[in-house]
Amino acid sequence: FKTLDDVELSGKRVLVRVDLNVPMKDGEVTDTTRIDRIVPTLSEISEKGGKVIILAHFGRPKGEKVPEMSLKQVVPALSKALKMPVGFAEDCIGDVAKAAIDNMANGDVLVLENTRYYKGEEKNDPEFAAQLGANGDLLVADAFSVSHRAHVSTEGLCHHMPAVAGRTMQQELEALDAALGTPNRPVLAVVGGAKVSTKIDLLENLVSKVDGLVIGGGMANTFLAAQGKDVGKSLCEHDLAETAKRILVAAEKAGCEIVLPTDALVAKEFAANAPHEVLDVDSIPADGMMLDVGPKSVEAVVAWIKKANTVVWNGPLGAFEIEPFDTATVAAAQAAAEETKAGKLTSVAGGGDTVSALNHAGVYDDFSYISTAGGAFLEWMEGKALPGVEVLKA
Ligand code: 3PG
Repeated sequence: FKTLDDVELSGKRVLVRVDLNVPMKDGEVTDTTRIDRIVPTLSEISEKGGKVIILAHFGRPKGEKVPEMSLKQVVPALSKALKMPVGFAEDCIGDVAKAAIDNMANGDVLVLENTRYYKGEEKNDPEFAAQLGANGDLLVADAFSVSHRAHVSTEGLCHHMPAVAGRTMQQELEALDAALGTPNRPVLAVVGGAKVSTKIDLLENLVSKVDGLVIGGGMANTFLAAQGKDVGKSLCEHDLAETAKRILVAAEKAGCEIVLPTDALVAKEFAANAPHEVLDVDSIPADGMMLDVGPKSVEAVVAWIKKANTVVWNGPLGAFEIEPFDTATVAAAQAAAEETKAGKLTSVAGGGDTVSALNHAGVYDDFSYISTAGGAFLEWMEGKALPGVEVLKA
């Protein structure tokens, strides 16, 4: 795929699709990670004399102009991150957008209003693509985290104008390739989280690609139950026993070693500092709940991390939001961080709760790459083609 190195930017109207879908509270951005990540792309285009015209969505307004989902509220945080003024146009197409763009000097940065204010965006409507494209000379795609959506600003527009990957997209694709595309083996996947039901495709894809697969979090209980163990009151999807068995068989056939917990921190209630004990997974009482992977199991996970050359991580190993059930997640994450710092491991993580779990473990800066993508990261782990990435390869 082409990158910013392959295009002339000076004097050009550069449409840049980024992900500004950031968490907000009381009008303030509460986590600026996604904004910080796009700064290199935006600054580079600006410094090279391009007019930086930002396309993005906020929330899911479903084609309605919902004021609470205006991108205007993100502009101050973006301006602060870029250390320069950022303009705003109250529409992403038509006369309002055109007038604001006509007013730009080379190097200026302008945010256009939420592309999802128009139904055509999510329908990938060619007419909306023509309207959006009328305001730019080329497109820079820098929103990997929305690349699983075949929308106009993530996919359709690329058929209307030259399109290249921005620096964040480029970095993300390189990291993902190092994790599952052409990885340095052995590759270990660490998958946690509450439910197997949301990760069936992901697990099925992984067993055919990785050498070891750690299953933790609530989803491990479903596997333990499928093996005939009594999981007490633990979170468990008993109706997925057959699915879990199928995944175990597929793993065996593919030569992928599944690492399930052998012990757990067991409490009687889901609460911070609930009285708990370490128990073997064969002796969980009827009123017990496994809330974290136990010390013996953590040791096995850490041993695998030390043996691996690549780790790809999604989801926490226990109920990391409440202490002390964050213990296994923190210990395993720190082991991966240490190995990475020592130059012995490529570690890539992303999806849903993963970023906050790794932040909580204090290893955010020590992994090789942490993706800010949620759904897109999961679809990539499922082995699905992402429309917003495929179109850049075309
Ligand atoms: C995200 O927040 O994961 C992306 O911005 C995609 O948002 P969406 O799930 O509303 O498409």
